[in-house]
Amino acid sequence: MNILVTGGAGYIGSHTVVELMKAGIDVVVVDNLVNSSKESLKRVEAITGKAVPFVEADIRDRAAMKKIFAENKFDAVIHFAGLKAVGESVQKPLMYYENNISGSLVLFEEMAAAGCKNIIFSSSATVYGDPAFVPITEECPKGKITNPYGRTKDMLEQILTDIQTADPDWNVILLRYFNPIGAHESGTIGENPNGIPNNLMPYITQVAVGKLKELGVFGNDYDTPDGTCIRDYIHVVDLADGHVKALNRIQQNPGLAIYNLGTGTGSSVLDVIHAFEEANGVKIPFSFKPRRAGDVAVNYCDAAKAKKELGWEAKFNLTDMCRDSWRWQKNNPNGYED
Ligand code: NAD
Ligand code: WQD
Repeated sequence: MNILVTGGAGYIGSHTVVELMKAGIDVVVVDNLVNSSKESLKRVEAITGKAVPFVEADIRDRAAMKKIFAENKFDAVIHFAGLKAVGESVQKPLMYYENNISGSLVLFEEMAAAGCKNIIFSSSATVYGDPAFVPITEECPKGKITNPYGRTKDMLEQILTDIQTADPDWNVILLRYFNPIGAHESGTIGENPNGIPNNLMPYITQVAVGKLKELGVFGNDYDTPDGTCIRDYIHVVDLADGHVKALNRIQQNPGLAIYNLGTGTGSSVLDVIHAFEEANGVKIPFSFKPRRAGDVAVNYCDAAKAKKELGWEAKFNLTDMCRDSWRWQKNNPNGYED
């Protein structure tokens, strides 16, 4: 199989490229490096012992995309490329709509022109908004989304659904990720945020490594057992494996299929802090801060559909995720700049 991986130099993309190559699948990565560096792919090459074909290009660049499809015959596309910072998307909505929507439209048009009609799309649990029920199944109605980033995911799900309805030759798999954390066991690839992290785990690891003084825990008055928000954290390597399993499924011509990728277990912010401290023997100083706008109290999934139809389930637990996040950060205090 030959797969185009858009955004393959990024956090989830680089881990997925490792798992694809381990499974004997050929890949071509396209990335404009707006939120990543070539170094991640060099490290993927060191892990796998194989070269990673890479095209540095923006998916909005139609000529570049035409050239990629003219030079390769792909069985499917795994589409990670996009901007993903929730707060930034509120400040710069046009940038998010332009990059995520316009870029994806060019990609989908060039796929259609090349006759490549199989796509796996990185969607997000954010489409459930404040979920109507937990654990969240794929039947849970979509909720009110509070930011432009999340709306791009919702819109792209709808666009792909419409494309598949109009032309049943398309196979579209929407993967709704819950909260990816962790890193490859080698400690050589991992999440590498620019500036001060917005997300919990990279914030914790930067406190642990001494780059930040203390963690602010956003809210301790939620209606949860310890008052802090509950999320479904999933190891990025499990998530990567979910894409390999989704590729097997897409070959069975599923039409449109949607899967939650999470562990099915909810953990509070305090659970994560304590698990990190225990797994790694490092103290994480923290203090409670006001709630963060847009946060929902509880969000975790029912992952039974992915187990039944993809034969996929998460193997790693929260301790594994904390251990692997820390190994990456400790070995690379400045990410890929080291
Ligand atoms: P990331 O920023 O590490 O990776 C995205 C990659 O896309 C980066 O390498 C970036 O350089 C590239 N990119 C962005 N715009 C591009 C463009 N126009 N052309 C070419 N390349 C472009 O993010 P990630 O965490 O690996 O996320 C991957 C995908 O999964 C994204 O679509 C994201 O929205 C989605 N997702 C992420 C999370 C999460 O918490 N990390 C959760 C749910 C969904
Ligand atoms: C987790 C918990 C925070 C930072 C985001 C996106 C979502 C998806 C995954 C892409 C929350 C708390 C955090 C901190 C804290 N991404 N927290 N102090 O918000 O669940 O999901 O990433 O699709 O769309 O919104 O993840 O890691 O930011 O927060 O207390 O410094 O940690 O309040 O309860 P979130 P997160």
